[in-house]
Amino acid sequence: MLGLLGLDLFGLVVGVVTHLPSVKVESLEPSFDDPVTNVTAIAGDTVTLPCSVKNLKDYKVMWLDHRTKTLTLEARRIIADERITIERPDIGDWNLYIHGVELSDAGKYMCQVNTVPVKIKYVILTVHEPPEIIPELSSKEEVFVRESDTVQLVCNVTGVPTPTVRWFKKSPNRRHYSYNDKEMIGHDGMVLRIRNISRYCDDVYQCVADNGVKLPVSRDIKVTVQFPPEIHLPTKKLSQAVGKETILNCEVTSNPSMYSAWTRDGITIQNSDKFKIDLYEDYKNTMTLSMKISDIQKPDFGVYRCEAQNEFGRDFKDFFLYELVTTTPSPSTPSAVTTTTPVHVYVFTWTPSVRTYTPRREYHSKDRPPLATKKKPKGRNGQSRFLPNNTFYLIGLLTTLSVIIK
Ligand SMILES: *[C@@H]1O[C@H](CO)[C@@H](O)[C@H](O)[C@H]1NC(C)=O
Ligand SMILES: *[C@@H]1O[C@H](CO)[C@@H](O)[C@H](O)[C@H]1NC(C)=O
Ligand SMILES: *[C@@H]1O[C@H](CO)[C@@H](O)[C@H](O)[C@H]1NC(C)=O
Ligand SMILES: *[C@@H]1O[C@H](CO)[C@@H](O)[C@H](O)[C@H]1NC(C)=O
Repeated sequence: MLGLLGLDLFGLVVGVVTHLPSVKVESLEPSFDDPVTNVTAIAGDTVTLPCSVKNLKDYKVMWLDHRTKTLTLEARRIIADERITIERPDIGDWNLYIHGVELSDAGKYMCQVNTVPVKIKYVILTVHEPPEIIPELSSKEEVFVRESDTVQLVCNVTGVPTPTVRWFKKSPNRRHYSYNDKEMIGHDGMVLRIRNISRYCDDVYQCVADNGVKLPVSRDIKVTVQFPPEIHLPTKKLSQAVGKETILNCEVTSNPSMYSAWTRDGITIQNSDKFKIDLYEDYKNTMTLSMKISDIQKPDFGVYRCEAQNEFGRDFKDFFLYELVTTTPSPSTPSAVTTTTPVHVYVFTWTPSVRTYTPRREYHSKDRPPLATKKKPKGRNGQSRFLPNNTFYLIGLLTTLSVIIK
């Protein structure tokens, strides 16, 4: 009996080795049971590299990283990196978990079974990183430049895949703007170069970095263009009768605006009973220095100088006030104040500047040039570029109205 049993056992063993077809033997070999080969994650996430093995038997599963360093053997971690674990949700699973995945973890991983030859399943791990603007390597949030300089605005950006950096210009006149409202400028890239910058480029610039991973990020850079003052007198000479009053206006365009004044014989005119000086912010970089002269007497006739200065230079223009000789003085003539037409008042009340502004009135003597000639110098200075279209509409409308009234 014992001998028979031994023979039987022997026969069975021999039978397995010699008589069974080899195909059946191979079908019992370990095989991978998970088709996933590519895994994409965002830095910081926990990532699962799947490896599921059928018919493992006594063979062992190992994970190796892209540097062919062994990470795990069976369910044990071999390396010191505690972010790595083997998770086994099912009997055949040998999934590699990486907690807080980093950019440097990206690469081709191998799930190996120690058959001869070894069986390998490759899993490619791709790690994405949302875009980030590095403040220390980017332009400051406020940049001061000299007019005509070449300016480089930088947004140094990281992210995987490499983010696209677009540049926008925000108009300060628009109170509300959305992502689509901004004007796109320049070429894509981390550097926006503005050559020969002009005062009209004085704006808030914005870079927007996007690589499709999470949300785009942006940075605002306010560019202030500085230039020496320029003075413009809407009227250069004026006649007025003794005893009347008048107003001299001086437009100063300057950045920064430091000193500006009406002077006479080199002496700055201060507020007094006779002189009242007001400053009006018209729009960006431009203000009007308005001087009211009351009860004009003979010594008040002559030259008044409007001057302005900042660290980049100075400018001045002279104004000539001379006596209006009336042969037949009209009794109880209303002062110059009441001769003002609303046209002038409204045109100059319009102040699109976001800074504080005061409604203002202007006083004109009869020989004031008509509005048409007054509009021209604004165009020459280019200041009209700051006026929205509806301002011109308004000017046009009021001019038409004044013509009708006349
Ligand atoms: C996995 O990624 C590789 C290279 O990144 C690519 O060639 C392959 O087609 C991808 N496979 C799948 C199944 O997406
Ligand atoms: C961004 O910063 C990196 C790292 O300091 C530097 O190598 C690169 O030149 C910078 N890029 C720009 C456009 O300044
Ligand atoms: C810079 O721009 C001004 C006008 O804005 C122009 O007159 C001047 O020629 C320009 N200079 C150069 C070097 O391009
Ligand atoms: C001003 O008018 C021009 C031409 O009609 C137009 O292209 C532009 O968008 C207008 N700008 C504003 C601020 O309405």
